[in-house]
Amino acid sequence: MALASSSASLITIKVKVKPCIFGSPRRSVVVRNCAKPTVSPIATSWKVDSWRTKKALQLPEYPDANELDQVLETLSSFPPIVFAGEARNLEEKLGQAAMGNAFLLQGGDCAESFKEFNANNIRDTFRVLLQMGVVLMFGGQMPVIKVGRMAGQFAKPRSDPFEEKNGVKLPSYRGDNVNGDAFDVASRIPDPQRMVRAYCQSVATLNLLRAFATGGYAAMQRVNQWNLDFMAHSEQGDRYRELAHRVDEALGFMNVAGLTSEHPIISTTDFWTSHECLLLPYEQALTREDSTTGLHYDCSAHMLWVGERTRQLDGAHVEFLRGVANPLGIKVSDKMVPDELVKLIDILNPKNKPGRITVIVRMGAENMRVKLPHLIRAVRRAGQIVTWVSDPMHGNTIKAPSGLKTRSFDAIRAELRAFFDVHDQEGSYPGGVHLEMTGQNVTECVGGSRTITYDDLSSRYHTHCDPRLNASQSLELAFNIAERLRKRRLNSAQSLGL
Ligand code: PEP
Ligand code: CO
Repeated sequence: MALASSSASLITIKVKVKPCIFGSPRRSVVVRNCAKPTVSPIATSWKVDSWRTKKALQLPEYPDANELDQVLETLSSFPPIVFAGEARNLEEKLGQAAMGNAFLLQGGDCAESFKEFNANNIRDTFRVLLQMGVVLMFGGQMPVIKVGRMAGQFAKPRSDPFEEKNGVKLPSYRGDNVNGDAFDVASRIPDPQRMVRAYCQSVATLNLLRAFATGGYAAMQRVNQWNLDFMAHSEQGDRYRELAHRVDEALGFMNVAGLTSEHPIISTTDFWTSHECLLLPYEQALTREDSTTGLHYDCSAHMLWVGERTRQLDGAHVEFLRGVANPLGIKVSDKMVPDELVKLIDILNPKNKPGRITVIVRMGAENMRVKLPHLIRAVRRAGQIVTWVSDPMHGNTIKAPSGLKTRSFDAIRAELRAFFDVHDQEGSYPGGVHLEMTGQNVTECVGGSRTITYDDLSSRYHTHCDPRLNASQSLELAFNIAERLRKRRLNSAQSLGL
């Protein structure tokens, strides 16, 4: 068991705990020495389990510590889901996005579920991400880095640890790798065996994604074969139609130039996976030392992010992430202040490696215009290299009159507009977008050209957590972003006198 070693004002005591949150009944607990409250949050030595010496928010309490330990041991013996070399490639590409030479498209379910695990769901989300990627690539004339919130996005942080319905109060659902979402006592008890199932589902999902990405499915057909139904219904349809026509022409040109669906450039694509690094016992169990570099990689996904609720400088999640070499995301709401962001980036990326840190801003359009400039300036003053990405979903969650959680397409678009405006104003690079979306024709977010109203929500509301853009809304948003990328490109060419 790793002990916090660096600071005189940390006292480490061993305690015996049961039931167990973390997987080992013997664990270290750090207590602050009241006489000296200011302690560097960073222990000097990192170990794969040094996070256990820190305060960990949002972790479930498992009733049976022995069963948990057995599961974690099993997972530790399983093969890694991804390889270190793949994560390094992604980091390098994200470094390009930090400099404005590539664009990140990260998207998928808010929460993957055991119930909706099937080939069609995986294929449809993958397909829409690819189509969005083509549109963005055309608009920005730069590579688009496609990263799924897929093959591991199970654990959910909750604002409220309890859920109450008709006077009955139960622990909240925390994602299918922790407990069940049915509203009954048994379902809500954390079950460690769920981690094994999540591992297997992640492996099978990634297996299919790899097959699609390299086995010919990635071949891009003509745009007119896509499901662009939003165009027929929209005022913007004409504008988008012109862009779609041009993308189509470009694909047609590539085809006659010999880049047919048999050519590897057309038939294969790079695709990576990502999820929130929340369930630390699981993440620890999938962490491996890379034999080529000696570095530790969390092999549960290529990229991991720390959520808005667990990004405390001295918390367990930051402690774990600072020691793994995967590219990392940091979710940032309007609560983040510039100094804290600079400190957090410094803890997670002390060597200032490009591509290591992606700052995923999610604060709503109005806050974005007021707060993002200060964050950008502070990071720039500190000389830190980061990739700025907009998550226009999590700052825009509202309740429909029916009580269902939803998001408005207009608010999402407004936040993206603010993101691009601020970067134009600050001379920094909008490096990508992070979306909750699906390839299915769900009715979870209101608006879009093929309008979904509050009344429509209940007809196909399938999400296990937050509302997602459906295929049509996702593509419409991609066209919107592509236009913006195109404008940026034309403006910068103009300012260079080209
Ligand atoms: C999420 O991405 O699903 C999420 C919970 O985000 P955040 O941590 O930004 O609230
Ligand atoms: Co979410």
